[in-house]
Amino acid sequence: MQMYKKLSKSKKNSTFVVQLKKTKMSKITVVGAGNVGATCANVMAQKELAAEIVLLDIKEGVSEGKALDMMQTATLCDFDTRIKGVTNDYAATAHSDVVVVTSGVPRKPGMTREELIGTNAGIVKSVVENVLKHSPEAVIVMISNPMDTMTYLALKTSKLPKHRIIGMGGMLDSARFKCYLSQALQAPASDVEGIVIGGHGDATMIPLTRFATYKGVAASALLDTDTLNKVAANTMVGGATLTKMLGTSAWYAPGAAGAMLVEAIIRDQKKMFPCCVLLEGEYGETGICIGVPVVVGKNGWETIVQYDLNADEQAAFKKSAGAVRSMNNALN
Ligand code: 2OP
Repeated sequence: MQMYKKLSKSKKNSTFVVQLKKTKMSKITVVGAGNVGATCANVMAQKELAAEIVLLDIKEGVSEGKALDMMQTATLCDFDTRIKGVTNDYAATAHSDVVVVTSGVPRKPGMTREELIGTNAGIVKSVVENVLKHSPEAVIVMISNPMDTMTYLALKTSKLPKHRIIGMGGMLDSARFKCYLSQALQAPASDVEGIVIGGHGDATMIPLTRFATYKGVAASALLDTDTLNKVAANTMVGGATLTKMLGTSAWYAPGAAGAMLVEAIIRDQKKMFPCCVLLEGEYGETGICIGVPVVVGKNGWETIVQYDLNADEQAAFKKSAGAVRSMNNALN
């Protein structure tokens, strides 16, 4: 198995080999070793996205323990990435290429993401300041909630170029959308395309049902309107449904979505994902961070892709942007 893997790797073209070398030298930090941060680190290690992943938390022993546990899967899952757990030691995160911020408290059943703003704003601000002292060139991936406002806060407090701050929410929402779509279509999720734009909130996200496809065929041609509306409604409360079941917010899909975003940065993939970025006139909005399709590569997000939204979709986006803007105002 091992021999086969090594052989097939060496048969790949030279671009792949160059990418592999580059990713093996990279360093990634994950701040917050809770369920989402630890899952994200674990997925990234299994994908060998970096030579080293540093997992940082404020609770003594938590990141050290989780990192050691993950390292003990290295021979089981066949990866060489080193995972180091530290307690509040930002010096250990120095020279990271990408920093994933998951810090803050998660939702409890019945809570909205927006209710976390008071607690999480202070935490996220100090995390971003500390991280940048040691990794001034890093691209920052925001996962902490409320994600749109935390992305905006990180951008404003860090004064980094806008391309280096990306919120992950739309990727998670789109993964949930594709999951519910695939169940309705009774098709594998990998055969389904779907995108969610707008804010990462139960009432602000916009599953673009008109653009959803199954192997190139419009989902609207295969599912009746009620079913498609139900898929969209389930997507919008996707996080709340899980919070109710689990007693805290979800982690497998949020962690994996964060890892996929980091992969696109580290491997300079130029993939298109819906992510939370600063708008300066695109989609008719200015001065907020909100989910839109972007191309992601080594410098962070590179370009915003303009979808041809119809009047209803544009109106939904405007409403979503208004909600995100008023949430940002709560920061003051
Ligand atoms: C979620 O939707 C944690 O916001 C994240 O599950």
